[in-house]
Amino acid sequence: MRKPLIAGNWKMNFVTSEAVEFTKALVSNKFNDDVEKLICVPSVHLSELSKLLKGTDIKLGAQNMYFEESGAFTGEVSPTMLQDLKVDYVIIGHSERREIFKEDDEMINKKVISALAHSITPILCCGETLEEREKGVQEEKVKTQLIEDFKGISAEDAAKVVIAYEPIWAIGTGKTASTEDALQMIVFIRKMISELYNSETAESIRILYGGSVKPDNIREFMETGEIDGGLVGGASLKADSFAALVNY
Ligand code: PGA
Repeated sequence: MRKPLIAGNWKMNFVTSEAVEFTKALVSNKFNDDVEKLICVPSVHLSELSKLLKGTDIKLGAQNMYFEESGAFTGEVSPTMLQDLKVDYVIIGHSERREIFKEDDEMINKKVISALAHSITPILCCGETLEEREKGVQEEKVKTQLIEDFKGISAEDAAKVVIAYEPIWAIGTGKTASTEDALQMIVFIRKMISELYNSETAESIRILYGGSVKPDNIREFMETGEIDGGLVGGASLKADSFAALVNY
């Protein structure tokens, strides 16, 4: 049974006092126990929030990491540092990292391997641009990304990865993919994982949808039974909205 996951992606928002206030408000909420709850926060907040979330059932995630453990990589955060702060998850290959920071699939693959080696669950993002969707090549695009990103990863490790399908045109735009479009892609991804690995891996891997997920559309995605949760940006930045997403 795949446990649903609602993952907030704060992106580059909140100074420390706001992050602390938000997290305190969050932990005081009553949440659905059957849903896994996660906030992926800017790395400067990880230390403080790790203390606040200790003993709660809200998991902590980073939004990025480098694949090496230490060394001359100015500005980067290592998996060892995340592990030390008891970080459970790390977003890898978000479209903003791919587009703005020019991360390619080779680097993303190394990051996924490194996260797994440090017992941090990678949330691997994939998705097509509007242009690719209009040309009808969205499945090819996602397939290419995933083949590259899963290179050299065993079936046992692959089953631990969380995939987030995020069509780029739906991120932060208010334009949500229709349930049918999201479902079609997620079914396609599961089939692909089954071909790359086996049906057992495909059945256990969790696949999220992301892109303008809100309290008023999350239920429809979840009711498909195929979409295992959401990676949520904007709507995760208010404690009551995050709670409403979890309690869909
Ligand atoms: P959004 O962002 O919910 O604000 O569209 C999702 C994401 O980029 O992870």
